[in-house]
Amino acid sequence: MERFYVSTPIYYVNAEPHIGHAYTTIVADVMNRFHKLMGDETFFLTGTDEHGDKIVQAAQEAGTDPKSYTDRISGLFRDTWPRLNISHDHFIRTTDPEHIRVVQYFLQKVHDSGDIYFSTYKGLYCVGCERFYTEKELVDGKCPDHDKEPVEREEANYFFRMSKYQDWLIQHIESHPDFIRPERYRNEVLAFLREPLEDLCISRPKERLSWGIPLPFDEKYVTYVWFDALINYVSALQYPDGERFREFWPVVQHTIAKDILKPHGIYWPTMIRAAGFAPYRHLNVHGYWKTSEGKMSKSRGTVVRPLDLVPIYGLDAFRYFLLREMVFGLDSNFSEDALVQRLNADLANDLGNLYSRTLAMTAKYFDGKVPPFGAPLDEVDKDLIRHVEEATAHYVEEIPRLGFHKALMKIWECLSAANKYVDHVGPWNLAKDPGQHGRLQTVLRILLELNKTAAVLISPFMPETAEKMLDRLGIPKKALDLRLEDDAAWGTLKEGSPVQKGESLFPRVELRVQQVEQVELKGRKEEKPAGKPAVQQARDASQQPAADKRVEKSQEKPEEKLENISFDAFKQVDLRVGLVKQAEKIPKSKKLLRLTVDIGEERQVVAGIAEYYTPEEMVGKQVVLVANLQPAKLMGVESHGMVLAVRDGDALCLLAPEKPVTPGRRVS
Ligand code: MSP
Repeated sequence: MERFYVSTPIYYVNAEPHIGHAYTTIVADVMNRFHKLMGDETFFLTGTDEHGDKIVQAAQEAGTDPKSYTDRISGLFRDTWPRLNISHDHFIRTTDPEHIRVVQYFLQKVHDSGDIYFSTYKGLYCVGCERFYTEKELVDGKCPDHDKEPVEREEANYFFRMSKYQDWLIQHIESHPDFIRPERYRNEVLAFLREPLEDLCISRPKERLSWGIPLPFDEKYVTYVWFDALINYVSALQYPDGERFREFWPVVQHTIAKDILKPHGIYWPTMIRAAGFAPYRHLNVHGYWKTSEGKMSKSRGTVVRPLDLVPIYGLDAFRYFLLREMVFGLDSNFSEDALVQRLNADLANDLGNLYSRTLAMTAKYFDGKVPPFGAPLDEVDKDLIRHVEEATAHYVEEIPRLGFHKALMKIWECLSAANKYVDHVGPWNLAKDPGQHGRLQTVLRILLELNKTAAVLISPFMPETAEKMLDRLGIPKKALDLRLEDDAAWGTLKEGSPVQKGESLFPRVELRVQQVEQVELKGRKEEKPAGKPAVQQARDASQQPAADKRVEKSQEKPEEKLENISFDAFKQVDLRVGLVKQAEKIPKSKKLLRLTVDIGEERQVVAGIAEYYTPEEMVGKQVVLVANLQPAKLMGVESHGMVLAVRDGDALCLLAPEKPVTPGRRVS
């Protein structure tokens, strides 16, 4: 068993949590959960940074005092994380008495060793950044972050002899290639260290700023906010004597975005060196989430708040999207359109579809019980199992080196291979032949095992989904209690144990709206589909994701030209030829017929065609069915597919193959 300690930045309490904060915290959460899955002993720290000018200003603007203000905003962060399923062990506040004690101990220690001295400094100071700027750092005479001219300020202050540790730091970074990673940020720090390092001003006179930690050796001063904040990473471990410090400090990984590279890549390691303990193991630096308008900015109203999105798309879809979309280290654009696409393609289609068809077939062919491996493995089976083993091995390698998107890609390649395997093997055909019973058992068992392994592998990213999947497979475990070695092991499902079908894991967002459209071509609404409210119900019109706006537009003008889609996107639609076995009117509905359609397996489908076709004429007809559409309820009747039709003026014409074909054949 190894140990693992991950931290997020402690966030300033001058703004509410937004998607940038959520991303770093979810990344740290994924790492923490992954290490737990590997059986490691872990510690995960987050919290809030509460001292300094910025906070005093924000409190003034909010018409309150710093203490009440920080209590309130810190509370917002603290309440947000459980709602994003963050598994942190400790939430630190820099106003905690224990933190204050450790900061003062640290300062005294460095002061005693001679690395803090008193001096006068005159320079250009940016209030927003809470630091002095050199002329060279300014852009057109303004602070590059705040676009404001700094003010000239002269102050007698305490300084930390940072310059003394410059050579040591260069040497340490050069001899530890993954100290700061990815490499681009390591290079950035090294480039910065090519210039002589200045000493760091670490105090503020109390008369100017009282909201800070008093220096233990001069009560007229408080500590510079960065010197105070960085120490949180050890004060939370009861530095210097705590057991936690001994156990977890040697394995610490800080996770931040590129905006705070300098304090973490330069101030902090030199501070640590001066205090006389070993530096952190890794500094993991990621890029920025931007919106189409550029950097997220509160004043421009382009901040994306995680808690606005979660109720609409679901927590796990949100977590998955962030981790799958961003290449760790690079910037990414956030758009709801992209989120909707990933939700539909990766979650509803690949994962959700594989899972529900596996469980539906187990219910149908084996009475919902896990079958044995009834026949020896074929080559296709072995290929698929090898695929799972390779994906698991890649996953275990990629996550510790921050390749989150790659780990997910590997899992999704497996899911897609498994969906192809189902299409290729055609369990519904095996089911027709009693001589193939053993083969059918093996096929379904492989699929069940694969779903189980996939659930375990996704558990750090999507803990709720993993729990739901495993629960229905008869493994009612909490995500944090899973262990890769035991729970993902191949072949361990219990033969004969029950599995349950259930509601789909990820309702499609876009297509569900289209399904309403099919029933409501014109006129009265019959019934909204079951499940979560459609996106447009949850948001006001101006905020709707573009994908849904598109669908709505096509409701108003059905002939309007739609955007081009890729062939791959088209392939995601599972079109099948079906034979209508039974048809009947749905009581109290003018428009709806309930059809039983054979597509290799029987499907109940509700179609809005009653005004054009009688039940009698429908029986025996071949139709084309969208077979992987999210199930919906219409007038209380479940529909598992959509029959395709063409509207021509007042007429409606069903689509069918030009001559009869075997039911279940795929339309391409
Ligand atoms: N209080 C300091 C950190 C002290 S740590 C000892 C601070 N706080 S902050 O509230 O401004 O948080 C900055 C961090 O928030 C970034 O490093 C990153 O983790 C996260 N993000 C804020 N905006 C972001 C994006 N737009 N994109 C990605 N992450 C960003 O700095």
